[in-house]
Amino acid sequence: MELKRDSWGSNLGFLLAAIGSAVGLGNIWGFPYKMGKCGGFTFLAVYVVLAVFVGMVIMVGELALGRKTGKSVVNAYEAVSKSFKWIGWLGLFAPFVIMSFYSVLGGYCMQYMSLNLAELSFGLSGIFGASISGGITFEAMLTNPFGCFMFTLMFMALCMFIVQGGIDSGIEKFNKVGMPALFVMLVIVIIRALTLPGASEGLKFMLVPGYAVEAGFIEEAPSFISVLATAGGQMFFSLSLAMGAMITYGSYLSKTENLVKNSAVIVIADTLVAFMAGLAVIPAAVANGLESGLAPNKIALNGPKLLFVTLQDVFSNMGAAGPLFGIIFYLLVLLAAISSAISLMEVVATYFLDRAQAKGKPRDRKKIVFYVSLAITVEALIVAVDGLGSNGLWVPGQKTFGIAMWNDCWLDFMDCWPEGISMPLGAILMSVMVGWELKPGIVLEEVHSGHRPGAFDTFFSFSIKFIVPVIMSFVLAGQMIDFFATESSMSTVKPVCYGIGLAALIAAHILAALGRKKLKQ
Ligand code: PHE
Repeated sequence: MELKRDSWGSNLGFLLAAIGSAVGLGNIWGFPYKMGKCGGFTFLAVYVVLAVFVGMVIMVGELALGRKTGKSVVNAYEAVSKSFKWIGWLGLFAPFVIMSFYSVLGGYCMQYMSLNLAELSFGLSGIFGASISGGITFEAMLTNPFGCFMFTLMFMALCMFIVQGGIDSGIEKFNKVGMPALFVMLVIVIIRALTLPGASEGLKFMLVPGYAVEAGFIEEAPSFISVLATAGGQMFFSLSLAMGAMITYGSYLSKTENLVKNSAVIVIADTLVAFMAGLAVIPAAVANGLESGLAPNKIALNGPKLLFVTLQDVFSNMGAAGPLFGIIFYLLVLLAAISSAISLMEVVATYFLDRAQAKGKPRDRKKIVFYVSLAITVEALIVAVDGLGSNGLWVPGQKTFGIAMWNDCWLDFMDCWPEGISMPLGAILMSVMVGWELKPGIVLEEVHSGHRPGAFDTFFSFSIKFIVPVIMSFVLAGQMIDFFATESSMSTVKPVCYGIGLAALIAAHILAALGRKKLKQ
């Protein structure tokens, strides 16, 4: 039985795995729509600035923290200071909860692959006399809880086998094949999408500032602050930050590798794939929607509906080759989902592996990953059976004192805690702690093993002290508004959320200072 920690086989393997973690459902169904809604290139510019000044800085910070301590997310924070261990707990909680719905969505991708396989094999539309409708199949799938759970189970089993294989011979191996394959498939789908008649409308929606409002896709343009918060939230989720993933992957990285260069590659690759995903889905979705006579504001360009309703309609209307493109597309989304899910599972698995080792027990990866998968499957069962609220399951807090709340379904309920609260809060705490209490030197020392001291140091120190905490408190407010405000409660919830954002910033300073005091006693 293994007693030692694993490590990546090569830097390229690490990079592909980290890019795999970053490239996920967030890139495909979140980025393109948010870009269109928030003013096209304006959003892209804000996103890139945030990715450089905030994303890149946190990425370097997390990889450094992981590599420096060589420990799981909880123990990495504990190793830096005992009183910050609870930030690590936040980083363990988030991926565990996210997996509850990520696995269900991964299952949906497999189901839509099967649908297109069946169409290719049997010509379902010929048998039933109508082309496959995305809306009808989606509804049918959601109200078929047993099927959804079976596919969730298959998705979980796939991920479990990969993670059981270990860092280099499981996760790294999968990504070395999966990531290049994903890229090639993405290029194929883009070429097909952009050559569809009417694709230019969708391109304009994505790229031209103000076009989304002008052409009636959305009612009003969002304010700059909400663009900032939307871009920040999207960037954080998309880069897999503040969820322990990069700390965990960093903990298996060799001391000779250059963290700054690696972080830059991850950030650039993730942003590029998000943009490319936009080119693959939006023009086709818009063209097909308008052609079918839908009003622009009725075309679903975001979330599960984009993937499983709008795009299925595109493939159904594409003619003989439609199902083939459908299979390629859902396979590519499935690969993106698996490569992210395995990083989420690894965060939890690494924690238990390190804990076993600390107790003098062997690192029994197969057993631990099995139990982690089992626990995730139990929570995923609820989300799968709920079918995005289609099956009338009770959802906690859906109605409080008779008032409709934000969460329509279990997926929303599971998503709001990690993505809406623990992720931005964790980032504020981490940046304040590193920037003001422990001092940036703690990260830079680690960065210098593999990267020469220089301009990056000044950039990092300034950014982690001033830029990251301020931006992240806006993101916290924006995420909370997004998750918790309903149309009717918007005017009261909005100021409260901004207040909470500011309060979190102040509280982080107080907590960090208390943590330091405790250390000195
Ligand atoms: N980055 C992934 C996505 O874009 C999600 C993810 C978040 C994965 C955090 C790992 C950790 O879908």
